Amino acid sequence: MAQGSIEVYESEGRTFPPSDEFAAAALADDRSLYDQADADYEAFWASQARDLLSWSKDFTSVLQWDLPFAKWFEDGELNVSENCLDRHVAAGLGDKVAFHWEGEPGDTRTISYSELLAEVERFANVMKGLGLSKGDRIAIYMPMIPELPIAMLACTRIGVAHSVIFGGFSPDAITDRCEDAEARLIITADAGYRRGEPSALKPNVDAALTAGAPSVENVIVVDRCGTDPAMVEGRDHWWHDLMANAEPSCPPEPMGAEQLLYLLYTSGTTAKPKGIMHTTGGYLTQVAFTHKYVFDLKPETDVYWCAADIGWVTGHSYIVYGPLTNGCTSVMYEGTPDTPRPNERSGDRASWNKDRLWDIVERYGVTQLYTAPTAIRTFMKWGDEWPARRDLSSLRVLGTVGEPINPEAWMWYHDNIGGNSCPIVDTWWQTETGGHMITPLPGVTTTKPGTATTPIPGVYAEVVDDHGNPVEVGGGYLTITRPWPSMLRGIWGDPQRYLDTYWAAYEGRYFAGDGARVDEDGYIWLLGRVDDVMNVSGHRISTAEVESALVDHPAVAEAAVVGATDDITGQAIVGYVILIGSVEASEELREEVRQHVGTKLGPTARPKAVFLVPDLPKTRSGKIMRRLLRDVADGRDLGDTTTLADPDVVAAIREGAAESDEE
Ligand code: PRX
Repeated sequence: MAQGSIEVYESEGRTFPPSDEFAAAALADDRSLYDQADADYEAFWASQARDLLSWSKDFTSVLQWDLPFAKWFEDGELNVSENCLDRHVAAGLGDKVAFHWEGEPGDTRTISYSELLAEVERFANVMKGLGLSKGDRIAIYMPMIPELPIAMLACTRIGVAHSVIFGGFSPDAITDRCEDAEARLIITADAGYRRGEPSALKPNVDAALTAGAPSVENVIVVDRCGTDPAMVEGRDHWWHDLMANAEPSCPPEPMGAEQLLYLLYTSGTTAKPKGIMHTTGGYLTQVAFTHKYVFDLKPETDVYWCAADIGWVTGHSYIVYGPLTNGCTSVMYEGTPDTPRPNERSGDRASWNKDRLWDIVERYGVTQLYTAPTAIRTFMKWGDEWPARRDLSSLRVLGTVGEPINPEAWMWYHDNIGGNSCPIVDTWWQTETGGHMITPLPGVTTTKPGTATTPIPGVYAEVVDDHGNPVEVGGGYLTITRPWPSMLRGIWGDPQRYLDTYWAAYEGRYFAGDGARVDEDGYIWLLGRVDDVMNVSGHRISTAEVESALVDHPAVAEAAVVGATDDITGQAIVGYVILIGSVEASEELREEVRQHVGTKLGPTARPKAVFLVPDLPKTRSGKIMRRLLRDVADGRDLGDTTTLADPDVVAAIREGAAESDEE
């Protein structure tokens, strides 16, 4: 393992100077956690599980591994909400702030551990009152308001599994996910604030339930924006009405360690999203462990902020479950980073203050900031003057997640936000892994701009070639060689797909779907997805999903979608569309087709550009040659809207197709 080499780093043909932090980290060199794990990794995770969590019944079995099915701590019992709340209150930390919550319009709420517990108990009773009990599934479709973690924790109190659906998703996504999970309840809000305006949620739930999902019996609605949505008699209930009538006390029910905790749907290479299953004891162990060590947590004094959305796994593990298990104080923010600060709003977006994030860091004295490369690149583009206006000296650790970070963005984050002295933790993991897998540990690992470095203690990864042979130095595919506590336990309702997707490519190994390179120091450089999944601002979107939304438009005969390189979002979605014969191409139609995807799948999945083409390049077996389309898209200005049937795109595609045909 490479330690201590702190010369100038070279990456992508550029060099990056060392900083004080690299030197400091190299000196610390405390490898004890790695050594313990390597000596006996089951014993290592068992001791973490006991140290970090409270169990109502201790476990005797650590790991049962029947590839690809793992059971961790199986005969142990615990309750997640008790670990996140009751035990901290019992330890005298009831008045400690759990969340400094800030709404997008600037309204704030400070919620202590005892207040959070009281709300969770009440809401658990609300769900019980609606007939829900252990083993049921419910859906949550909410903005980033405190009621969201309250609802999640209330589920864990009584053994109900939640499926959080990102608030940016469309009605179709709600219908599909509720049908797949047979959800009995949807918890939502009338709307949430998004870029200065209420963005409606409840009407999307209504549309979803008109289209299907008959298992949903009740809808609970938080009145966030006062938009007065239509309420269906008997089915829809206001959160505040139910809470006003709920009993205050609801003891936590002990759960088996392998009790289903939640489902979180993620895109695959086919249009049908996969319900990733996470269970209780192993998941909580690994998220608590990583939250503590990766962010170098000092729970007494830290104010930690993960600026993700709870609709994604990052928010599940590192806004809700990890930080609360560790009893730390967090910031939770409703809006996007580029929304105006209070009292400075103007209709003109260009004049908004671009220091919302830095303002929050300064006001709360944030010590750890965890965000995505796409956000960092946006801040870079806005210019150094915005962070420079604020005092960011409280920051100690900076985190990044969601996609590979380019060394330039890494250095900018390090110098302009971290004042050249905060370690950067580039954390590689996935919805499926539940918690961090590959990341530096502050004070232990010497970092380099652009690499997630090495696996955490107790996690074992290898880069392999096409034949599944480990690559010592060089490029290949990222695999995980041993089970880990927070690993997915399967795909809801589809064990075969679980096996085929993750365990079939390389025997005995979990295949992550990412390309990676190992350098001379043994550090792992993530290179992005190798399958047909795009990564847009850190969100995984499958080409197949967007293609089916495109062909869903009545004028579209065939469609191919690729992710083109994009400076800000990592990848940008580009669609190539063949219209049905009788339809005349027009600029309006092109825009309409583009918007259609937004309506079907939500704005994140709306293509940045749609090209109308007469033909698509295909292999002899009829498979669309996405690689070629990607090259074509990479060579174009995606803002260019001058094309209809776009002669040069077509020429390029044809040329390329002809060449590859000859290969
Ligand atoms: O391609 C990798 C990329 O995001 C994928 C996982 O996406 P998702 O399940 O939505 O979870 C995102 C938050 C954990 C991975 O397969 N990815 C995530 N983190 C990194 C990354 N790529 C490079 N570096 C990272 N730090």
